[in-house]
Amino acid sequence: MDKILIIGCAGQIGSELVPALRKIYGNDNVIGSDIKTSPMTEELAKGGPFEPLDVLNAARLGEIVTKYRVTQIYHLVAVLSALSEKDPRRAWQINMDSLFNVLELAREKKLSKIFWPSSIGAFGPTTPRIATPQMTVMEPNTVYGISKLAGERWVEYYWNKYSVDTRGIRYPGLISYKTEPGGGTTDYAVDIFFEAIKSGHYKCFLKEDTHLPMMFMDDAITGTIQLMETGNEKLSIRSAYNLNSLSFSPSELYEKIKKRIPHFRIEYKPDFRQGIADSWPASIDDSIARKEWGWKPAYDLDKMVDIMLSEIKKKLA
Ligand code: SER
Repeated sequence: MDKILIIGCAGQIGSELVPALRKIYGNDNVIGSDIKTSPMTEELAKGGPFEPLDVLNAARLGEIVTKYRVTQIYHLVAVLSALSEKDPRRAWQINMDSLFNVLELAREKKLSKIFWPSSIGAFGPTTPRIATPQMTVMEPNTVYGISKLAGERWVEYYWNKYSVDTRGIRYPGLISYKTEPGGGTTDYAVDIFFEAIKSGHYKCFLKEDTHLPMMFMDDAITGTIQLMETGNEKLSIRSAYNLNSLSFSPSELYEKIKKRIPHFRIEYKPDFRQGIADSWPASIDDSIARKEWGWKPAYDLDKMVDIMLSEIKKKLA
């Protein structure tokens, strides 16, 4: 029986991935861990085992893996793009050292599978922006992007050199209502919903016509589990797969919300995050994921907007 450790379980992805995995593998077989022990969604706190963990502490990570006889790790810890620019050395340390701790442990203990998320941030200003291919120019100019590209090379290296079964996805901006993202450039696409409902006004830190790749969290979770459950022989990519779903700009998202909340107003005050967004793709070519493991998103923009508004209204009520 697989025993799965999620590192960074209280974050935006972890808080939805843990309950989804527990439904499939059983509550006791999915162990949550995070440096922060609160706030935590009730689902997460009561659903199964939890271990406090600073993943920079390799010995503590090893203890948890031994204690639960862990076979798979999803390593979700990262300092996101905007926050990374404020303290580049610290972001590099957290993003890279934590990955090495996980990869080394996987090699030593012969763990069966490792999931590590990359990002559209691994691309850069010289990358083709529309339908960005899987293999293309990658010259990221943010510390987050540099760490993601380096991480991609390292996870692939561990597969080639030590047969550690690594799998990854270049996530677009992820849109969710359960746990908000923090410190990213695509965060506006979550914040805007909360502000539309709370104050009817949103000050957007990106320009109105900035198109970025985005995805509703349910699709991201489905895709992640699908990739992890695909047979080894079908996967040609061990760094991280391109995944596409939505591509929209702040003004397009604003119009969709305004249709449902007519008094909603937006103003555009771009800050340093505009430079980050301008260096990223607008849409992604994900044909390899579709062909190799059957990836297909289920949520379009209207469906996503309807769910976000109704769930956030319930949450704020
Ligand atoms: N959503 C992330 C960010 O904005 C990109 O992976 O930093």
